[in-house]
Amino acid sequence: MKNPKVPFSPVEFRKETLYLLDQRKLPNREVWVACRTSRAVWKAIRHMIVRGAPAIGIAAGYGLYLGVRGFRGGRYEFMQELSRQGRYLDSSRPTARNLAYALERILNRVCLSRQDHIVDLKRLVLEEARQIHLDDIVLCRKIGQYGSRLFKRGDTILTHCNAGGLATSGYGTALAVFYALKEKKIPFSVFVDETRPLLQGARLTAWELSRSKIPATLICDNMAASLMRARKIQGVVVGADRIAMNGDTANKIGTYGVAVLAHVHRIPFYIAAPSTTFDLKAKTGKDIPIEERPHDEVRKLHGKQLAPKGIKVFNPSFDVTPAKYISGIITEAGVLRPPFARSIGKVKRLLEHA
Ligand code: MRU
Repeated sequence: MKNPKVPFSPVEFRKETLYLLDQRKLPNREVWVACRTSRAVWKAIRHMIVRGAPAIGIAAGYGLYLGVRGFRGGRYEFMQELSRQGRYLDSSRPTARNLAYALERILNRVCLSRQDHIVDLKRLVLEEARQIHLDDIVLCRKIGQYGSRLFKRGDTILTHCNAGGLATSGYGTALAVFYALKEKKIPFSVFVDETRPLLQGARLTAWELSRSKIPATLICDNMAASLMRARKIQGVVVGADRIAMNGDTANKIGTYGVAVLAHVHRIPFYIAAPSTTFDLKAKTGKDIPIEERPHDEVRKLHGKQLAPKGIKVFNPSFDVTPAKYISGIITEAGVLRPPFARSIGKVKRLLEHA
């Protein structure tokens, strides 16, 4: 799908095939992976060919269609198969809320339809998957508009991980703020945390910002503290994988540390995320499941052994930033401010009436 409103599209669906830009290979190679079954999509999500909460949700939506497109039988059996495929895709990664959001949305749409013909039900699944994809572009652009109002000429902004076009339908959440600032011709610059262990900052955010000609400087994760003390950073914007109803936010491991640093140095710390990342069932961060990933991700770097083979490793992929360290959550409905238990009501209403 070519869409002029995004810098690029990491997820494309055409001719009954889902094409994913392989994010493991960036920035050195631009390789596309073709998925024709829900199993292939499950694997692509688990092994992070596609990653970033909204992009995972978009891919899973198409994956659900691929899972039922060959189905034969009646409506009742179709619904059973649809929920089975949904549970299967949902098991690919546990933290990103957008994954379950997309699957639940498609299931609800089909459940509520009066169609009896299986061909029509399959068409509905694909239609809704495409709509989730298109909606994300709109949500991200709104986030960019609201977020860009928080910064002024000459600011330097820190970001962690990759909450860019690659992690969404092409425009990003945290990076949407940067793309919008650039479109408004407001001069600014960015510090990019490299983001160990998988280096989403160094490989992906640095790639995106370079190709968009946004001035960016790559730093190791342990360098932000001294930059903040030297007053070289005026704000932080990161994405989110899941946001609880009190504002506690799960994002890439290391985000919590950056938030504490920003708090100590009195630097505004913003989360940028669409309503699709909020979890109505999670009251606080304690209700957010945190994925633990393979230990070799820490022992090795790009397949090269760094640490002794048998060394014990702890590798949680995400951490939770308590709401008290968050200055605002930039959503498509505006910037939510503390106390979040109240301001999140705006997003809650959006989700409940969707
Ligand atoms: O493990 P990843 O690369 O999927 O983690 C991605 C992040 O933590 C992003 O910041 C988050 O998903 C927001 S993407 C708009």
